[in-house]
Amino acid sequence: MTATSMIEAAGRALADSRRLLVLSGAGLSAESGIPTFREAQTGLWAKFSPQDLATPEAFAANPERVWAWYRWRRSLIARGGVNPGHRAIAALERHLDVVIATQNVDGLQSAAGSHDVSELHGNIWIDRCSACDAEHRQPVAEADDDAELPYCDACGARMRPGVVWFGEMLPVNALERAQAELERCDCVLVVGTSNQVYPAAALVEMAVAGPATVIEVNPQATSVSAAVDAHIAETASKALPALVDRLDGLGAAR
Ligand code: APR
Repeated sequence: MTATSMIEAAGRALADSRRLLVLSGAGLSAESGIPTFREAQTGLWAKFSPQDLATPEAFAANPERVWAWYRWRRSLIARGGVNPGHRAIAALERHLDVVIATQNVDGLQSAAGSHDVSELHGNIWIDRCSACDAEHRQPVAEADDDAELPYCDACGARMRPGVVWFGEMLPVNALERAQAELERCDCVLVVGTSNQVYPAAALVEMAVAGPATVIEVNPQATSVSAAVDAHIAETASKALPALVDRLDGLGAAR
């Protein structure tokens, strides 16, 4: 089936649904100019090793390099901002109850106006104390690469980015919220994730194994593309606004 016919089928499925869980990944923010993590040649990890940047050990060994990378990413996010895919997901709230569980740390889905966002991997705009967990939310702005590294006002230890690093536990409330929503929703929209990082990837697998209709938006096929109800092989910025247009056209009321 073509992407257009898949969008038609997905639009009808959404029009017949009342409660939607969105599971999103780096591909949703790719069109904001924020590199994804695993795409060959372009993905961030193609240039860096995760072990060099996104682990507690990397931070302990070289906090300057880790902060430089996160400051670079903060600047990309501040410059790129919300894209039509983020806005379309926020617009779905006109038609359905929408809960979002995102692997993205960029804060762009909330910035687009979505009201119920669980950040499974934390938030890049939060500094967190490496010792006492005190948090300080930074304004969304291009980072000052020359600024001194931050220390905790409360205990004096180094502050770290408020994101989940490899080997660390996810925020329990975010994961439990997503798992609970899998039990309640009647449709799941999987957008822009390679489904390679657990436990977030397990949420997608549980969705596919469950009773809800599952729609995947990804220009590439993934490990679940053959099992979902509709795989829209299109970018988020094209497919998601088209889905909202279909719902508007179908007059799907909440
Ligand atoms: N629209 C939709 N999907 C896209 C787009 C786009 N414009 N561009 C790329 N994609 C898809 C790619 O085909 C790929 O399947 O987005 C996916 C991105 O996959 P990853 O880079 O692995 O990102 P993600 O799945 O979010 O990674 C999960 O890994 O490194 C950790 O913490 C990091 O949260 C991240 C996690």
